[in-house]
Amino acid sequence: MAFPEGFLQELKMRNSLTDIAASYINLKRRGRNMVGLCPFHGEKTPSFNIYTENDSFYCFGCGAGGDVISFIMRIENLDYVEAVKFLAQRAGMEMPENSYDDSMARLRKRIYEANREAARFYYKTLYLPVGKEGLDYFHGRMLSDRTIRHFGLGFADDEWTSLTTHLKSLGFSEHELIAANLAVQRKSGNGVYDRFSNRVMFPIIDLRGNVIAFGGRIMTDQKPKYLNTSDTPVFKKSENLFSLNNAKNSGSRTLMLCEGYMDVIAVNQAGFSNAVATLGTALTSEQAMLMKRYADEVIICYDADEAGQKATSRAIPILRNAGLPVRVLTVPNGKDPDEFIKSKGADGPAAFKALIDKSGNDIEYRLQKLRGEHNTDTSDGRVSFLEAAARLIATIPSPIEQDVYAAKLCKEFGVDKNAFMAQMKKLNKRRSREEYRKQQQKISTELSGRGEKLDKDRAKALRSSSAEEALVGYLIRNPDSEKYISSEIKPEQFQNSLMRRFYTYFLDRIRDGKDPLNNTSADFTSEESDKIYQIVQKHASIAQTKKSLDEYIKVILEESAKPKPADIANMGEDELNEYLKKVRESKT
Ligand code: GTP
Ligand code: MN
Repeated sequence: MAFPEGFLQELKMRNSLTDIAASYINLKRRGRNMVGLCPFHGEKTPSFNIYTENDSFYCFGCGAGGDVISFIMRIENLDYVEAVKFLAQRAGMEMPENSYDDSMARLRKRIYEANREAARFYYKTLYLPVGKEGLDYFHGRMLSDRTIRHFGLGFADDEWTSLTTHLKSLGFSEHELIAANLAVQRKSGNGVYDRFSNRVMFPIIDLRGNVIAFGGRIMTDQKPKYLNTSDTPVFKKSENLFSLNNAKNSGSRTLMLCEGYMDVIAVNQAGFSNAVATLGTALTSEQAMLMKRYADEVIICYDADEAGQKATSRAIPILRNAGLPVRVLTVPNGKDPDEFIKSKGADGPAAFKALIDKSGNDIEYRLQKLRGEHNTDTSDGRVSFLEAAARLIATIPSPIEQDVYAAKLCKEFGVDKNAFMAQMKKLNKRRSREEYRKQQQKISTELSGRGEKLDKDRAKALRSSSAEEALVGYLIRNPDSEKYISSEIKPEQFQNSLMRRFYTYFLDRIRDGKDPLNNTSADFTSEESDKIYQIVQKHASIAQTKKSLDEYIKVILEESAKPKPADIANMGEDELNEYLKKVRESKT
């Protein structure tokens, strides 16, 4: 780690985690700690904790944990050095000079620069003779030059090397261009060529104004219609939204979620700058959480075709789970918002505004869809519709809201409201149980999925891994025990390579006289950091006595004495017989 210890201490002193987190989420005091809804996963009851004692956080729901620097890394999607800069700037502190040499941070910076130059180049090309085709295309789709400029739209010509040559002349290396996914390595291994060619270009810009990626549309009906930048060190398509940079400043706490680039741009041109789109994939919960930070409500404006309606049904629960109320805008005649606005000519903005005003909430939308699936002209159809409606209404968290819909339906169909409510009450009970179980299941699969990738050895050696985790947790919480623990257990005796790494790391830190957890975020990825905080939390809730410590040590020693599968494979016959004898003896 390269920042001076004193600098980091001051940085953390001037940026209290509680203050910072409070600017992203609502926090309530609970004893000495603060709790709130976790910004890193969707939840309805708070499991995100801030421990004021050491200014750290931990979420019992999703296992995210760390200090103020890791909090900023996660929530602002920054790497370590960027997060430190962010906090230094916030506190008005000077960054120490030449204090870091982080090759990843440098590469990310170069990718941002290359992307910015690429966006400039594509935009310029649009207005050159070679870009005429692209400009005509945009004009043909009714985009004004002002809109083109506002979104920084551009054109990639058909030469396959134009951008690469230009960026190389500005000093970018082939390695950097490949990392930015602006260029692709030739199959022969010799040199690179442009990733995008003969396409109109849409830059994707993050919340700090960095160009992080591009979408490129082909101007004919060839496939693929859209080509997007693959994930790079500065871009993850599942975690970004097109035009959120504009929508954030729209002055509205409502976001309109569209399906595509062209919809967002057309909606903007019609005067609504609060539109965003996913980048050619289904909405993710990360994107919903991101929207939650800038919106109190989302209007889904997907295409009116079947694919769009399916996507709407999928997006509703994701948004609801992120705590966002949802409305659904229905575009008439099977069109998408772009086509609709265009078809209305000069009346486009007003006509679209009327659709927004008419858009109902997700429950109304789903009730209407349900109605379409049942023949309510027959008594059988009415019964099955009402049953399905009761199931749907039972999923509404607010009892008042439930009551409103129930009353409306009962009145329309002339059924007894008490009977309907009784049916719903039954469903309500079952639902809350099921929902709780599902949520727990989801979290645990997410957690173990995440854990498994990071901690490959855990599943293979559960007993030793658990003891090793407990030992590391004990060591972090009781640095005074370093001498005793290290005299009993050598790192080589760990079976789990991740725990071995943690063990060695924390032993070193404690020997250097450093606080175990303070300023460690530079040395770990956010997954590793989560794991560490998970270990520390887990064992904070279990009383950790000297006796339990000796139990962990005993297990680790036992497990390390067992021959590993690889050793068995390499044993000669005598050795193997000796081993089997031992195993039999130890069982009795
Ligand atoms: P236009 O046809 O130009 O009006 O675009 P559109 O936005 O209406 O496209 P469509 O409704 O077909 O698709 C919606 C969004 O899905 C697009 O904006 C893209 O982000 C994405 N998409 C569509 N086709 C492709 C494709 O072939 N590849 C990828 N990666 N994404 C696509
Ligand atoms: Mn479309």
